[in-house]
Amino acid sequence: MRIIVTKDYEDMSKKAAAIIAAQVVSKPDCVLGLATGSTPIGTYKNLVKWYEEGTLDFSAVKTVNLDEYRGLPRDNDQSYYYFMHDHLFNHVNIDVANTNVPDGTNPDAEQEAERYEALIASYGGQDLQLLGIGHNGHIGFNEPSDSFDKITHCVDLQESTIEANKRFFATIDDVPKQAYTMGIGTIMKAKKILILANGEGKADIVAKAFFGPVTPQVPASILQFHPDVTVVVDEAAAAKLPR
Ligand code: F6R
Repeated sequence: MRIIVTKDYEDMSKKAAAIIAAQVVSKPDCVLGLATGSTPIGTYKNLVKWYEEGTLDFSAVKTVNLDEYRGLPRDNDQSYYYFMHDHLFNHVNIDVANTNVPDGTNPDAEQEAERYEALIASYGGQDLQLLGIGHNGHIGFNEPSDSFDKITHCVDLQESTIEANKRFFATIDDVPKQAYTMGIGTIMKAKKILILANGEGKADIVAKAFFGPVTPQVPASILQFHPDVTVVVDEAAAAKLPR
C-alpha cells in the first residue's frame, strides 16, 4: 500500500487526477471504476481541465460506477447518474454508451444486481477503481457488518444515512431507502485501487482502515489485502496515521 500525504484538498485532487490520467494515457481503452460524493469532485475537475487542454482523450475509456440509489430516475439531480454527467461525462469526449451506473429504476433488484456484476465481468473488471471512504469505513454502500458482501447487491440504507440525506429532498418520504452497490469482492477484483480522503473528520477512520485490524466492521480495511492500493490523503485526514 502506498500512502501519499498531500498539503490540502487541491493538492489531493491534482495527485489523484494525475494517477487516473496516467492510467488513461498508458491504456486508452481502460476500464475506470468511479465514485461519487464530495471527495472526488476536485479530481474530476482536473480531469476535465486536462481534457480541455488536449492532454487526455476519453474516447475509448469505459466506466463503471460504484453505486446508485434505488428508485431514483436518472434525471433526478440526487441520482449518481446525474452527478457523474454533471461533474465528468458531460465535459469530456467519453462515449456515453461506455459509461455505466447501476439502473436505479429497474424494479427487479436481483436482476439489476446480477446484470451489473455481469457487465463489469464482461469488461474484464476495473483497471483502476477510485474510492472515497465513509466516516464509518464504508466503501461504495458497503456498510459495517458481520461479513464482507462479495458481489453487486441491493442494500437497505441505514436510518442515519436516510436522516443525513433528507436535506437533499423535499420530504423524508422522497429519500431513497435502498441502493445498489458493487460488493467488496467486486471492488477487490480491480487491478489497481485509488482511495481518497480529506479533512480532519476522516482522520480517525483513515488510521483505523489502513492500520487497524482487517474486519467487516470497517469495510475499507479489506483493502490492506489488495496488492495495488494507493491512498491519497490530505494532511488533515492523515493526522492520526502512525509516523
Ligand atoms: C460514493 C460512495 C461512497 C462515498 C463515501 C464518502 O459513490 O460510494 O462510499 O465515497 O460516502 O463520501 P464523501 O466523499 O462525500 O465524503
